[in-house]
Amino acid sequence: MQQRRQTNSRKMISRLLSLLLPLLLLVNCCAAAGASLIPAGSQQLFALRSKVSLEPLAGSKPEDVSYSFETQLKINSVWSKDEEQLLEIELSKSRVSATAQQKEREIDSLPDRPFYVALVQGQPQQVIAHTSRDQSLLNLERGIASLLQLRLASSDGAENELDVSGHCRVRYHVKSSTRVEKTKTDCALWDLRVSYHPEQALGVSKQSQEQVDYELSADGALLRAESTETHRLTLTAKPDVGSVVRGRLRLQHVAQGGQEQVPQLQQPTLAAAIESLLEWYRVFELEADVDGVISELQEQTLQAQFERSVKDLQAEHVGKSSLALTFAQLLPLARIAKQPQFEALLQSHPRLAGQLVDLLGAVQTYDAHNASFAHFYKGSDTTAQSLELLEKYLQALAVGTHPERRILEQLFDFLQQPPAHKSHAKLRDSVLQTLATLTRQSGLDANDQLLQQIRVHLLEGLASAPEPVMYARALQNLRDPQTIDALLQQATQSPQPQLAVAALQALKAYPALSYAEPHRRQFESIFYQRQRRFDSSARTLALDLLLAMRPSAEQLGQLLDYLASNDRQFEIKTYVLQKLRMLAEICPRFRAMFQAALGQRAHVNNYHVLGQRGLTTVLTRQLSQSPAFNESLLSTQEVYQGILKRGSVEFLLHAGRAEASSFKLGIYTAGLSSLVGDGDADERNGQIPADDELEQEETVTAGMEISVQGAQLRPLIFFNGQTELMGHVWGGSASETTPAYQATTLAQDHEQYIILASGATLHWRVLGARSVDLNGKVTFSLWNRNAQTEIQQNTGSAVVSHLAVGFTYAKLVQDVTLRHEPKLSLQADLDFYDNMKLCMQLQSPEQLLTQSNERSVYLQSVEKPYAKHLRSTRTHKSAGRTFALNQKNNEMCNIIHAYS
Ligand SMILES: *[C@@H]1O[C@H](CO)[C@@H](O)[C@H](O)[C@H]1NC(C)=O
Ligand SMILES: *[C@@H]1O[C@H](CO)[C@@H](O)[C@H](O)[C@H]1NC(C)=O
Repeated sequence: MQQRRQTNSRKMISRLLSLLLPLLLLVNCCAAAGASLIPAGSQQLFALRSKVSLEPLAGSKPEDVSYSFETQLKINSVWSKDEEQLLEIELSKSRVSATAQQKEREIDSLPDRPFYVALVQGQPQQVIAHTSRDQSLLNLERGIASLLQLRLASSDGAENELDVSGHCRVRYHVKSSTRVEKTKTDCALWDLRVSYHPEQALGVSKQSQEQVDYELSADGALLRAESTETHRLTLTAKPDVGSVVRGRLRLQHVAQGGQEQVPQLQQPTLAAAIESLLEWYRVFELEADVDGVISELQEQTLQAQFERSVKDLQAEHVGKSSLALTFAQLLPLARIAKQPQFEALLQSHPRLAGQLVDLLGAVQTYDAHNASFAHFYKGSDTTAQSLELLEKYLQALAVGTHPERRILEQLFDFLQQPPAHKSHAKLRDSVLQTLATLTRQSGLDANDQLLQQIRVHLLEGLASAPEPVMYARALQNLRDPQTIDALLQQATQSPQPQLAVAALQALKAYPALSYAEPHRRQFESIFYQRQRRFDSSARTLALDLLLAMRPSAEQLGQLLDYLASNDRQFEIKTYVLQKLRMLAEICPRFRAMFQAALGQRAHVNNYHVLGQRGLTTVLTRQLSQSPAFNESLLSTQEVYQGILKRGSVEFLLHAGRAEASSFKLGIYTAGLSSLVGDGDADERNGQIPADDELEQEETVTAGMEISVQGAQLRPLIFFNGQTELMGHVWGGSASETTPAYQATTLAQDHEQYIILASGATLHWRVLGARSVDLNGKVTFSLWNRNAQTEIQQNTGSAVVSHLAVGFTYAKLVQDVTLRHEPKLSLQADLDFYDNMKLCMQLQSPEQLLTQSNERSVYLQSVEKPYAKHLRSTRTHKSAGRTFALNQKNNEMCNIIHAYS
């Protein structure tokens, strides 16, 4: 029985085999045909055409900017055996043209030696080429060889293939016995990044893809191979700025070569045949190498360009886009300049030192770094002015995303040395902050030795130094997940409110994903004061963290219940309410949850609870929108006993779901309420004293904190202690407009290469700069019991995108510049004569955004070089406006201004 079944199945298998065998043979036959796209021993003539064009991103149909390269190929199969083959390829009658302008140039300088392609099982493996050829031509030969890469079976999933574009994911689609389509995605050489911005909103977006169509004769010989690729390159925050580069590479069969058999190399193996060529040739992989010629900055020096720009570099241009533009244009040259060149500039332009140190910081090379230290730092003999400029250099350096590692090492080394003089405390603070920020931006491996040393240094400082707050700020800049626990410990246990607040501020800078359930419980413990009382700023920061972690409906409900609790700190309640309302305004999902939770709570959802009377405000406003950048402002004014305790205005750049902080200005005060007093006399007569009234007297102090693109600078202290305050307020010095921050810093910073199928190299560089001029004015009268603050910010920003693509004989260039000068003023009037009243006004005047675009085509290294430039400019004007803040603010403004 069992035996019979076995015999049966054997019969079945053999029958199946007899059916399948011809099919298997057929597949074999095709693979064999694939092995000879160029039949063994034959000569084939082809026409090759490569066209590269720069297309507009969208909209109108401007003039075509493209170049074409055409040549005739003679392909000889000079050696073949089994599944291996060696092809000899010769180019002739080559010419380039500016396609739309119908300008054509013969290329007669092409070397007349052929190159070779070795194929194994029909797949090109190597290019054997003349060593003296230039990189672009070698890449072109690799591109031609890559067109011969073809498989004759559809693929189920994506496969990996190596060709001129490096390792790519490919998919084959066999349409018929003579038509095959190949799709390429994710090629390694489409993403050769030299530098990039880790902050998505300041980065670029790139979409690349390529399709290759093959047409074969009935017996499998190549008739046509045509590759079409598209690279769409844009600014993430402004998708209408950028380029679309399209490349077409077509190999078209023209004729069968002469009658006679092509002379064959006589070597027994492919290796031996290749070996026989090596006297004049070298073997190369298919994968291309960048042709650096495309990105060379020719015949210019930093010195010369700097001298030409001196007018725009004057201090009075800080805050203007002309300075930002000059800055972005100088940077490429500065990045290849050497230390003596920088030192010469510093020496010869002492009046431009402020702008020069900004530039040196943006450069991020050791040459620029060492020049700055060599020029300004003279140990204990360093002058006060030099100390300031060195700090300014460090602040500019801090926004860098790719500092040379030696810079980090030097800064760390500097911190290890004992201070040269006691007046160097601020410099050391700046070195510490810059080192911490740069370490984060460098994205060092968690086990990197330098990172470990820096981490230990900061944690030791937090635990024991006389100034732990400074180290908490440095840890905020480092944002190393391994330091969260130490910060959390300070936040919950430090007896100094300042340190707990600094630790929480640092924790708030981490991505919310860094936190888990145990962290949430600790933040809740701070906010709800479960174990003990906390400073009001510590509580609001803990709240921010809880909200960033996305509360559940239940957790949100608990927060709302808190509003109806008997906590007497109505400013904190106001903060909670304002923050919840703001989130509901910008996030529809949160709004639904918020409204549902309110609906279930009659004890909260009433005027008594929701009409909180605190002066604290939290709000966000859209400052500008596409076609300009999508930018918003986040303002938090935390008031305590009628005095601004912690205020901040932050500018956020949005790109899709990503956002990046471009600038944040913070003001903090402590101990001032004892001078001004709480206007709410009736509140004091209440039966339960507000929590904070139980706290001990704090030192009278005020200062300003600035962070530029997330890099927290060392704070600027206005006064520390009552005596200093008196000097300020009564000396009248505080009532003049004083510059608070003036600098030009790097924003966008991206550079990359892409290799096209034709072997052409594409180089793309995006540099952006922001020049900020921030002025502040504070007047304060104890006699009239009022105070006015005015903050004026002028920003000039510029983005320069430079793209060049081509090869030895032709190239296309696109330069896009974007200029913008947003201005903003914030005015706050505080009246504490009887009841506390605060009126804030936020205004921005009319703004202009200018975008200019120049596309050029060049025919070069030919008898009569040719160039054509096409220019266009677009402007966008947005009207000036006053931002509506909130109802309570309006009411108070009406009251205050009625008396003035
Ligand atoms: C840094 O600058 C100093 C002073 O000019 C010079 O002596 C030193 O060699 C420089 N260091 C490096 C590594 O270039
Ligand atoms: C800018 O905002 C507008 C309107 O909200 C939106 O349609 C657009 O996609 C945003 N642009 C970017 C780059 O995020």
